[in-house]
Amino acid sequence: MDTKVTIADLFRFKHQNRKIVAVSCYDYTTAKLVSQTDVQMILVGDSAAQIVLGFDSTLPAKMDFMVTITAAVRRGAPNIFLVADMPFLSYQLGDVEAIRNAGRFVAEAGAQMVKIEATQAHLDIIKSVSDAGIAVMAHIGILPQNIGKTGRFKAVATTADVAMELITLAEQMVKCGAQSLLLEGTATEIAEIITKRSEVPVISCGSGSGCDGQILVINDILGLTKDSSPKFVKSYGNLNQNTIDALNAYSKEVSTGQFPNAEHSYHMKPGELERLHALLKKKC
Ligand code: KIV
Repeated sequence: MDTKVTIADLFRFKHQNRKIVAVSCYDYTTAKLVSQTDVQMILVGDSAAQIVLGFDSTLPAKMDFMVTITAAVRRGAPNIFLVADMPFLSYQLGDVEAIRNAGRFVAEAGAQMVKIEATQAHLDIIKSVSDAGIAVMAHIGILPQNIGKTGRFKAVATTADVAMELITLAEQMVKCGAQSLLLEGTATEIAEIITKRSEVPVISCGSGSGCDGQILVINDILGLTKDSSPKFVKSYGNLNQNTIDALNAYSKEVSTGQFPNAEHSYHMKPGELERLHALLKKKC
C-alpha cells in the first residue's frame, strides 16, 4: 500500500462493490509482508492468544500484550487499515474502562478501529467508545469470548427466528455508532441480507461470500499449521512443510559441517592472523 487506507476508503470500497481483503496478523515481520500486498485491512485479533501463545481459547489475551503486538504490526504495515481486537474483560467492566482500553490501542499502537465482540448487553459500550471518537467494529454471530457459556462454536442464524434477532442486532449496533460489522460463522443467506441492509462495511469471517469483505487468520492462509480448522478456512500456501524442510536442511548442514562455510563467516583482516600468532609466541 502506497497511501494509508482510511475508514473513508472502506466505505468507498463498499459503495463501489469492491471487496475488502482482511487478515488477522500478529507480528512486525508478517505485517511487513502483508504491507507488500493488496490486502487493505489487518486485524490484530485476540486469536493471538491461541496462535501466538498456544492457549486453547482467546480468553487469556491481555490488554498490554495486545497493545504491544498491535504496535508491532503497525510498525510493519504503516499504511494498512489497522483494527485492534478488544480482549476479554477489556470492555465488559463498563464504559470508562472500555474507552480507556480502546483509546490505548489508538494512542499507543496506531490502531484506526477497535473490534468488540458484542451482544445486546454491549450496545451502551459500543455507543460510549464511538462517542469518544474511536471507530468501532461490532463483532456479532459466533463470539469466541463466550466459549465458557456455549462450550463449542456452531453456525449462527440458521433458523428464521435467530436470523431475525441477528438482523435486528446488526441494525442496533450501527445505530449505536458501529462503523463496521464483523459477522462470524453466520449463515451465508443472512450475512448477505445484513450486508445489503447495512450502510457500514460488513466483513465476513466464515459467513459466506455476500459480505463486503473477507477475513482469515494469516497462519491459515499461509498453511503454517496442520491443526484441524473450521470448514470456512482455506490455505493458499504450504509454509508448514516449507518450514519443516528448511529446518531439516539447516540441521543436516550443521551436523555435517557444511554450515557455516566461508561465505557465512567473518575473517580477520589480511596479515592480522600472522601478527596475532607472533604476539602469542612472544607472550609464551
Ligand atoms: O481474533 C481474531 O482473529 C478474529 C477473527 C478471526 C475475526 O476475531
